[in-house]
Amino acid sequence: MNCKFGIVVAAAALALCACGNQEQSKVQPVAEAAKPAVSKSLVVYYSQTGATKKLAEIFQKAKNADVFELAMVTPYPSTYDSTIDAVAAQRQTKLWPALVNTKADLAKYDTVYLGYPIMFGSFAPPIYTFLASNDLSGKVVVPFCTYGSGGRKASAAELKTLEPNANVTLAYGISNKRITAENGAEVAAKEVEGFFADLAAGKTDEMLMGGYTEQRPLTAEDSAVFAAATKDYAYLKLAPLSVATQVVAGTNFLFVCTTSGFNRPPTETMVKIFKPLPGRGEPELIVMEK
Ligand SMILES: Cc1cc2nc3c(=O)[nH]c(=O)nc-3n(C[C@H](O)[C@H](O)[C@H](O)COP(=O)(O)O)c2cc1C
Repeated sequence: MNCKFGIVVAAAALALCACGNQEQSKVQPVAEAAKPAVSKSLVVYYSQTGATKKLAEIFQKAKNADVFELAMVTPYPSTYDSTIDAVAAQRQTKLWPALVNTKADLAKYDTVYLGYPIMFGSFAPPIYTFLASNDLSGKVVVPFCTYGSGGRKASAAELKTLEPNANVTLAYGISNKRITAENGAEVAAKEVEGFFADLAAGKTDEMLMGGYTEQRPLTAEDSAVFAAATKDYAYLKLAPLSVATQVVAGTNFLFVCTTSGFNRPPTETMVKIFKPLPGRGEPELIVMEK
């Protein structure tokens, strides 16, 4: 494997392994019967291998929104390494890929749900093409994404910078592993419902961090939770330093860690892990981000 892209590459590898069935983007017909006469919101999304598409369908159904799927004129290659190379080249040159359907008729929408896979820590290149060709000024823009290990906050922050005249809200994100699991659609739909409640209540990321204990040294039980949730993420070379917890229906753990995968110097990161109530499943990594 080409390691020059560090965590990104590894996260992508994991994600791509998780969904062996590569499916290239297609322009989706909107389900006419399901739409109200006047729809005020639009789901715009790009998905290379289907995870974000699955999430977009959940947003579409929840909001009875219209859908605008971004499809590349020349789709990414079907192999992982070639996709990495193609995206790396696009990011380096900032020559964003041509889309089959570049311009959306945004005039009739006040809210745009913008969905993407995380690539190289932020949105996938087709989103840059979309942003360059459409005016989101004055729109409420709700970002949502799927990722290998993280990128939700960073991509939403970049979106705010690129679209200073849009009202970019809190973002929703879910890992590829969780949404492509057997019950992934159900899990994501439930979380998205909670996400909409947080949005309606005007919650920010900072507010969502409320209710945690202070950071403290790990106990043996914390270490066991961490080991169980990160067993598929060895390539990130995570070393937990301390932990805080939040009791929900189960327990959220926020580990302060160092990550040093691919011979990179250790950098500090946060790893959020959810441990369900006893008998309701194994601890799982929710996101890794600062
Ligand atoms: C070229 C490429 C770069 C990626 N970069 C990252 C990354 O930086 N961080 C991450 O967590 N996941 C990364 N991933 C994993 C994808 O975000 C993840 O597999 C996503 O769920 C794919 O969505 P899709 O099925 O809708 O295409 C990358 C995947 C690819 C192909």
